[in-house]
Amino acid sequence: MEFHVVTLFPELFESPLKSGLLGRAIKDGLISVAFHPLRSYGLGRYRQVDDAPYGGGHGMVMRPEPIAAAFDAALAQRPGLWRVMLTPQGEVLNQRKVERLAQRRPGLLLLAGRYEGIDERVRSLVDQELSIGDYVLAGGELAALVVIEAVARLVPGVVGNPQSLQEESLSGAMLEYPQYTRPREFRGQRVPDVLLSGNHEKIRAWRRDQALKRTRQRRPDLLRENKP
Ligand code: 6GU
Repeated sequence: MEFHVVTLFPELFESPLKSGLLGRAIKDGLISVAFHPLRSYGLGRYRQVDDAPYGGGHGMVMRPEPIAAAFDAALAQRPGLWRVMLTPQGEVLNQRKVERLAQRRPGLLLLAGRYEGIDERVRSLVDQELSIGDYVLAGGELAALVVIEAVARLVPGVVGNPQSLQEESLSGAMLEYPQYTRPREFRGQRVPDVLLSGNHEKIRAWRRDQALKRTRQRRPDLLRENKP
């Protein structure tokens, strides 16, 4: 699976792509991340990528031509990429949408915006607009990283134990059950006896019950959303 990123700040992606699960997945050749730095498609001597808004107002707006040129270069290199713009105005990402993105081949072309906005005509260049939640970031770069990590986890081989993915998707509509490791007692709080019982049937039932209770209490919206 390929990720192509159009951004003014490719350096923001460096360390997250070197470390942990993503670093390993890239090393193993399971995913790749290519950058198309917007600045190199900027206009004129100063490689301009933004300008003042028509009609006035504060801040700058990203011009469409550098973005279109970066897209053309990415799509010439790899035709068929699914084009995604990261914007707080997009559909809000959730695990179901991540699963659909992970099916796209050869991969995703992610546009991370900056400044106060992007010229409206850029919307006609993309297949989908995504937000990662109802709050405001300074730019789409961190959102693009969120998409990359969430999607990469679903690429076969990236997560070592596929059982954990399967359990996640079965319980997908729910929060996870509480986990414990050593010590048996920590500051007066003991590990529930059932987990020490060795009775795997009982443990499964307890976990299912805990996940349901926890979801009802903290995220009842998840239970409502996932009813047929
Ligand atoms: Cl995709 N971009 C920005 N700038 N802010 C956001 C976002 C995206 N998703 C949530 N907040």
